[in-house]
Amino acid sequence: MSEPITALGKDLIGLEPLTREQILSILDTAEPFKEISERRIKKVPVLRGKTIVNLFFEASTRTRVSFEFAEKRLSADTVNISSSGSSVVKGETLVDTARNLEAMRIDMVVIRHGASGAARFLAERIPSNVVNAGDGSHEHPTQALLDMLTIRDHLGDLEGLKVCIVGDVLHSRVARSNIYGLLKMGAEVGVCGPPTLVPRGFAELGCTVFTRVEDAIQWADALNVLRLQLERMQGGYVPSLREYNRIWGVSSERLERAPKDILILHPGPMNRGVEIDSDVADGPHSVILNQVTNGVAVRMAVLYLLAGGRPETAEAAKGGAGS
Ligand code: CP
Repeated sequence: MSEPITALGKDLIGLEPLTREQILSILDTAEPFKEISERRIKKVPVLRGKTIVNLFFEASTRTRVSFEFAEKRLSADTVNISSSGSSVVKGETLVDTARNLEAMRIDMVVIRHGASGAARFLAERIPSNVVNAGDGSHEHPTQALLDMLTIRDHLGDLEGLKVCIVGDVLHSRVARSNIYGLLKMGAEVGVCGPPTLVPRGFAELGCTVFTRVEDAIQWADALNVLRLQLERMQGGYVPSLREYNRIWGVSSERLERAPKDILILHPGPMNRGVEIDSDVADGPHSVILNQVTNGVAVRMAVLYLLAGGRPETAEAAKGGAGS
């Protein structure tokens, strides 16, 4: 029997290869899973008996913790491995690490890695399902999915919405996954920042390029503000953090001149006072913490679908509304 068009296949490496229907099926599957985190006992037996390894070779708070919560709330058995404290520090390769984990009969690997392509490299070499939790500047698919779910919660259907990604687009896997996902869902996508951080190639992907944040604010229904990834910059990209904030920072003064209320997103971690001012991050139009809440439901949905679950049976699989 052929796979339904909404099936994800073995792995989730990025949103670039997914269809609109597959993205929609993840977002729609996340909807019933939201309720599990509101229960007194936050646990359902959806992934009972599955073993999931979280391999985090780069720092993470939101992604690592929300994958672990998603796994535990679906009753999977989980193990967390970081580079420090594992045999990676003794020189063991990624593939050898994964093969040794496979030898212990695991079912899924969630991987964050500093090298673009690391998740695909692993997925092609092990039979377990692999989920990309962010690889270099390539993709961060579950972040874009939770961003889209949050925009949909607040503004409705993504079709025709104008979403502008502001900041360090060049180094951002979040930007790439959002661009692929939002365009497939029929949204218009803008990118805004200094020309050093928003290369011309983004126009070829189908984005409107803004160099003035004031113009982006006039255009957008939602801004997804990105962190300046200072750890991936070798200098020369921005004059100084103070200058960056003065020219491209998202401030309440700038937002007050917008023709409509603009939804404010940020994937975190934030550099307050650099790409976003605190009164915006904590202000009435910010949905930054809603993004974090949605991250758990989106990751539950991805794990459930990769394990062979169907979108239309998610409500029944989690056992309806619990107590
Ligand atoms: N958004 C995000 O990826 O945050 P973490 O690096 O804390 O996981």
